[in-house]
Amino acid sequence: MERGSGRPGWRRFIIEHRSLSAYAMTQPDQHALSPIDAATIAINQRMNKFDGHAQVWLFGYGSLIYKADFPYIERRPASIEGWTRRFWQGSHDHRGTPMAPGRVATIVPQAGAVCDGMAYLITPEVFAHLDHREKNGYLRLATDITFDDGGKVEGLVYIANEENAAFLGAAPELDIARQIARSNGPSGPNSEYLLHLASALRELGKSDPHVFAIEQHLAQLKDAPPAAQ
Ligand code: SIN
Repeated sequence: MERGSGRPGWRRFIIEHRSLSAYAMTQPDQHALSPIDAATIAINQRMNKFDGHAQVWLFGYGSLIYKADFPYIERRPASIEGWTRRFWQGSHDHRGTPMAPGRVATIVPQAGAVCDGMAYLITPEVFAHLDHREKNGYLRLATDITFDDGGKVEGLVYIANEENAAFLGAAPELDIARQIARSNGPSGPNSEYLLHLASALRELGKSDPHVFAIEQHLAQLKDAPPAAQ
């Protein structure tokens, strides 16, 4: 459970508020963006769909479920329809490197699917931080969000589609687990991302066969004796 999450949203925001530029400065590579990362940020900054809105709902399905390193007004378990979570995105900047990318979550369209996650009500200033955090190929997309306790709202989600340079695509879940097991990046071991996400989904009472299958393979890889040389 995230620190302080039991407090009402606004009080928590005021208590923990620091300027957003200070948030951005805590991120790795602040002054050394690759051309692709810089282009991703530029495209996201051009999105004007919610211009003039004082507050926007953001849907998180990956690390945004378990790592809310930004101020938010309120958060609610939620889902989006027509999308499924997949570890098909390469990570050059958080859980791997450009030479040895890790694998992190994106969502891909699938008719009839429902992707569970967490929705956050944020102010538009927070997007500067989010665009930087998600710069390795994730583009903002407007989507309908359904709250678990009822109600629908239009909000935003960050999606890494197959056109971004870091996209890796489908692979057997055992191979995905092997890649995750050996990958590390500035934000830490890739396995930590997968394990935190699996625990967060369980805490929400949600199941995701793809995530849980990779988690199981990871556990078996950890227990397996090292291969003979
Ligand atoms: C998300 O969590 O919604 C986007 C992907 C990530 O940051 O892990």
